[in-house]
Amino acid sequence: MTLLVVSNRLPFTVSSRDHKLVFHASPGGLVSGLTAYLEWARQDPSRTDYLWVGWPGIEVEEGFRELLSTKAAKQKACPVFLDAATMKKFYQGFCNSTIWPLFHYFPTYAKFREEDWAQYVKVNESFRDSILKVYQPNDTIWVHDYHLMLLPKLLREKLPDLSIGFFLHTPFPSYDIFRTLPTTWRREILEGILGADLIGFHTIDYTQHFLRCILRILGYEHNFGQVLVGGERTIKIDTFPMGVDYCEIRDASKSDDIQEEGRGLRERLGNRKIILSQDRLDYTKGIKHRLEAYSIFLERHPQWQRKVVLVLSVVPSRLGAEQYEQMKEEIDKLVGSINGKFGTIDWTPIVYRYRFLPYNQLLSLFTISDVALVTPLRDGMNLVAKEYVASKTDQKGVLILSEMTGASRELGEALIINPNDISEIVEAIETALEMPEDEQVRRNQAMQTRLERYDVIKWGQDFMGKLHSIKQQQEKFSAKLLDAATRGKMIRDYDNSQNRILFLDYDGTLSPFKARPETAVPEKTLLAVLNALSEDPRNNLVIISGRNRSLLQDWFGALNLGIVAETGFRR
Ligand code: F6P
Repeated sequence: MTLLVVSNRLPFTVSSRDHKLVFHASPGGLVSGLTAYLEWARQDPSRTDYLWVGWPGIEVEEGFRELLSTKAAKQKACPVFLDAATMKKFYQGFCNSTIWPLFHYFPTYAKFREEDWAQYVKVNESFRDSILKVYQPNDTIWVHDYHLMLLPKLLREKLPDLSIGFFLHTPFPSYDIFRTLPTTWRREILEGILGADLIGFHTIDYTQHFLRCILRILGYEHNFGQVLVGGERTIKIDTFPMGVDYCEIRDASKSDDIQEEGRGLRERLGNRKIILSQDRLDYTKGIKHRLEAYSIFLERHPQWQRKVVLVLSVVPSRLGAEQYEQMKEEIDKLVGSINGKFGTIDWTPIVYRYRFLPYNQLLSLFTISDVALVTPLRDGMNLVAKEYVASKTDQKGVLILSEMTGASRELGEALIINPNDISEIVEAIETALEMPEDEQVRRNQAMQTRLERYDVIKWGQDFMGKLHSIKQQQEKFSAKLLDAATRGKMIRDYDNSQNRILFLDYDGTLSPFKARPETAVPEKTLLAVLNALSEDPRNNLVIISGRNRSLLQDWFGALNLGIVAETGFRR
């Protein structure tokens, strides 16, 4: 079987230069983490191969499509072709102007436009059509993230027995936020996700929110996360906190290249204490609050001026979107004013860069930073926090982490702050800079043990393992269901037949399963029913059981019926 991983973006983005297609790696911990799991699964004894289905990041002209598909196939990818206008309305519209702000608790930013919803439906359908073209029987589908919440149901309608997993990488909001979506949209989103067999979230809170929404909006109750959808399909909703490729990050951080690059950087930063802030440009990340806190910190603690530097790395994102452009301007201004206010000829309080940061540079920055300020206002997980801790091979360094991130549920030894409480961030910066080394080591050790135990490979294994078991459970369950029509037909056939043979299983059928099988002795009523059936000359009864011949003889020898002992096995 092949695992079809489906996400909005492919692990690479394509651009066109001089009429040639150029591939760039897509940034982010999600892509590198998922790729690590997928590559591991290929080496595993199950030899699960994969194919990544997603948008290549550009409108590809008809004439180039075959070429791109061939090139992509070599990288185990299958592009979904969408025109630029549709993609813009889908990505900047419903994805990033409705779902993104709503799911991150910025309801005032959320737009509810019919034409955006229409594009969202259309793009989800295009993804379905692309998948149906490459799907082979027995393939498993793993759909990722908020862009594709309708896809599981769209696929289920075409392939009812398909094995589908869905994982949401953002928070899932509380019922009161989710219900603000227009009535039909919110129903269709929930029904769309429920098309999957296994639905995963980063934290228990998000899982609980989803369960509450399906109860209040669709009337579905759950039993330990299991839900009977449409009265016929049992599915599972569960929590899977995504991890990082812990060993790879640790080993890479130890490498001579990274260490040497780090030493150079530290020197260029004046051998000062380094505070790192690393994010994609997004209003959810709390970058402005962080800058405000840093400014107050310098003011309240002048002894730290000239001894500390904030490396502010912001990765451009969602270019052209209104809130993002505005935020960029505000950050530029804040950085300028802080540097203007506190800076000296030989000290710049904030070293600011606004561009994509290659993985190696990011790692060397992690390794040399004394403090990481990870203070989003809301974040599904935040893999940067986990990557920072994993990179600390000498276990020195302090993580300041927002309680609004999914990661804070696992990284309790970090300095946990409320990102809206600026004074708390200011105090945490001071505590972090003054924290004794043995305490830093103690905290990082505990977090590293946890990150190593549930790394991204375990996360993927856990998810796929649970998907497999829920499928098995469905099969077992469906074999037991007897609908009214079949039951009626069986009774009619029985009545009309003049020569019947009835094969009767014993344990679990004529007698309930017992913890101690020797106690599952046939009851008097059962013997009476069998006797009555066997007295009808039109009936031939046969008991089939895994039990041995002498026991079955003792139990049923007095009746007029045949016995197949040991399930017919002959030595
Ligand atoms: O956190 C959810 C997520 O979709 C991540 O997968 C991704 O890194 C981030 O949001 C930004 O996504 P994009 O660059 O596609 O807007």
